[in-house]
This record gives sequence, C-alpha cells and structure tokens, in this order.
Amino acid sequence: MRVAVIGLGHVGLVTSASLVALGHDVRGTDSDDERIALLHDGGMPFFEPGLAELVAEGTTGGRLEFTSDTASGVADAEVVFICVGTPSTGTGDANLVAVEQATRDFARNATGGTVVVEKSTVPAGTAERIRRTLRVVRPDLRDETFVACNPEFLREGRAVQDCLEPDRILVGADSPEAFEAMRRLYEPLLNKGCRLIETDIATAELAKHASNAFLALKISYSNALARLCERAGADVVSVAEVLGSDARIGRAFLDAGLGYGGYCFPKDIQAFERLAAKLGYQFPLLREVARINDEAVEAAADKVREGLWNLEGKRVALLGLAFKPDTDDIRFSPALALAERLLAGGARVVGYDPRAATNAKEALPQLEIAVDVYDAATDADCIVICTEWREFLGLDLHRLRDVMAHPFVVDGRNLLDPATMAEIGFAYHATGRPAAAPLP
Ligand code: UDX
Repeated sequence: MRVAVIGLGHVGLVTSASLVALGHDVRGTDSDDERIALLHDGGMPFFEPGLAELVAEGTTGGRLEFTSDTASGVADAEVVFICVGTPSTGTGDANLVAVEQATRDFARNATGGTVVVEKSTVPAGTAERIRRTLRVVRPDLRDETFVACNPEFLREGRAVQDCLEPDRILVGADSPEAFEAMRRLYEPLLNKGCRLIETDIATAELAKHASNAFLALKISYSNALARLCERAGADVVSVAEVLGSDARIGRAFLDAGLGYGGYCFPKDIQAFERLAAKLGYQFPLLREVARINDEAVEAAADKVREGLWNLEGKRVALLGLAFKPDTDDIRFSPALALAERLLAGGARVVGYDPRAATNAKEALPQLEIAVDVYDAATDADCIVICTEWREFLGLDLHRLRDVMAHPFVVDGRNLLDPATMAEIGFAYHATGRPAAAPLP
C-alpha cells in the first residue's frame, strides 16, 4: 500500500520503517527541515536499537522516502498516519495543535479515498475533531475520507521489535473502508497470528491512555510497597515475585526503583486525568500514581542524605542518566530529577551513561559527565544506580570499591546482589529491601 506518515519522531520514524518492512511504500514527512536533511544523509535523530539498519534498508530499496513537503508526502497515499507530538500544556492537557495542523496539511492536499489514522496518543474525542476539521477544510471530500485510531504500544529501546512483533493490533474505526484498509496494511502480521482488536474510535483512543496509566499504576504500586517494605523489614523484590506469580496480576511492570520517566507515562497520565475531569469524572487515583512516582526519587535522595549527612561538597556519581536502558532519551528521567535535588543540596554530581550523556548535559549543564563508570566513581562519596544498563552488571566491584572515597552505593533499580555487595565491603542500600550492608 502507499502510506504517508506525518511526524518523524520516535513513533513516526519507527512506524515508517516498520511498514516498509511489512511490504509497503512509505513517505515520511516532518516540518523540521534539519531532521529531514539528517535522514537524507543517513543520520538518525535518536538512538533506537535496529532502527538505523531498518531505515537504511528502506531508503536503499527506494521504498522509504523522507520529505518536509507535506503536500508531496501525502499525495496519492491510501493511508495517512498522524504521528506528531502531543506534549503537555501547562495544565497537563494534551496539546493537540500539531494534530490539527497535520490534519489541515493533509486535508488541503487530499484526493479522496484516504484513511486518516491517529497513531499519536490522544484524548478520546480527538478523531471526531479530526473528522470535523476534514469536513471544514474539504467539504467536497465529505464521504471520501475515513478516520481510524491505531494507537502504538511501542517501548523505546524495543520499538522495532514491538512494531514488527506486537502483542496485538488495536484499530478503532467506524467505516468498513477504514477497517478494510487497516486489515490490508497489517496482513503480514495477522497472517502470522497477531491478534487484531477492532473497536469504535473512542474506545481505541481511551484504551491507549488506559493501558499506559495501568502500567504506571503497577510501577507506583510496587514503589509504594517498597516504602512499606523498608519500614517493615520486608523485601519488595520477593513481594513482587509473589504477586507476579499470580496469573491474574502478572510480574511485568512491578519493579520498584526510581520510578517511571520518559515522554509517555508522565504526560499521558496527566492528560488522562484531565480528560476524565473534562468529561465530568474525577479520577484522583491517577494523581496518586504520579505522586508516588515523585516520592520514589525523593526516597533515593533521602538515602543519599542519610548516608552522607550533609550534601555540601560531597561527590555523588549517578550511573545511568537515560530514563531507561537502551535509549538516549532523558526526557522526564528520574536520574535527572535526582541530580537536580542533589545539586540543590550542594553536592557535586557526576553522571555516566553509555548513550544519554550528551542529552543529559544539555538538559542539566551543572551535571559533570564521566567517560566511564570508574571515572564517575573516582573519589565519589556515594554512587546511585539510576538506570539498569546491562553493562552495570559486569562491573569490577572490587575496583569500584577501591576508587571511591567511601564505598557507599544506593541501588535505585535493585540491579546488584545485596549479599555480594556486603561481602565486598560496600555500604549498600537497595530499594525496598532490607539493608544487607548498612552504613558504618
Ligand atoms: C511506554 C509503554 O510501555 C508503551 O506501550 C507506550 O507506547 C509508550 O510508553 P516507554 O516509555 O518507552 O513505553 O518505556 P517502558 O518500558 O514502558 O518504561 C517506562 C518507564 O517505567 C521507564 O522509566 C522504566 O524504567 C519504568 N519502569 C518500567 C519501572 O520503573 N518499573 C517497571 O517494572 C517497568
């Protein structure tokens, strides 16, 4: 099929390359000329495992094109995906200006018979707005343009895999034409047995927010349990195992730690709560999820303060700055929220991250950047593990102990083994676990 993708951020670029891999011809458009120039030069605007290779395959084969000219981008497309950003406004609502703009850009150049698909995470009711906008801009195409909602569930760091081997595909639509087009589009995945869930449009829109909010709820539930376990002398990792072994609950997203970050959960939970309020339903549970998430960072800061007494002049090393492993994304990263708190208390904060150091430095210039873990740890009074990068599992812990001013580790992701840390001689504080190696 001929597909156009408007907006080449994380979702749009991964969607574009994946649809080419499924056998379609894709034109990706973005209003950012620099981004388009970068893509034309074979560069990537962000790091995502496997994406550069997939994009290169598509462009070399001539089936993936990029342009900043929406008119030529959407011309002749049978399906147009709207993948533009929906950032938070000051009040926490989703800002839908770019969605409206993308709709107008498409509508001005539409030729009829196209299915317009929302892929960005948007509040329920947005498709109806898109439909009205199409009618206003192109009343002549009233019965020839169809709308669908096909939310993405991709995770950064595993986005390509999530797109090409999804758990399920969700399509919300209200016309046979839209359902038919989406079935054709995803036929290769459906033939492999992937489940297709078809709903009305508002249900699909709401299900996406509900899904992200529920995952965040699971994380916050575990983080609240971590606070409780610390007080009760229980182990949150084992509690999560017990909970997770109940098939009704499931083990995924029950890892307590510094909490969730990234560009989706924090903004989507706020936007979902705002949507509920606008619809006349109060949903304070969502506010509580966000509050517990903030508390997780504060709890880690407390452990550092408790261990170091005063922060003034102390050197604290943060291992991992990205909001999660396998990405260079630092947006709403708990590591940076912690760094800000420690800097405010007068500490010298040194960060190391295999991918996200440049982005972190740009976001927080007072942060010092180290070239590797041992460089960060040298003369440090405390190390905090903020992101569970795989390389942190292979550390030479004896060397780490020896380069530090004081061997004190706060494990914000429960990555290391408490007994081993105690044996080597660290003071080691995990998250929600009994202190195996308390401070002297
Ligand atoms: C999320 C959703 O998973 C995805 O379906 C949606 O399309 C976009 O938002 P993403 O933000 O890329 O994806 O990352 P995800 O893997 O979901 O992790 C989000 C955050 O939760 C990370 O900061 C991660 O460290 C944290 N997390 C995750 C925990 O703290 N504990 C867990 O058990 C799981």
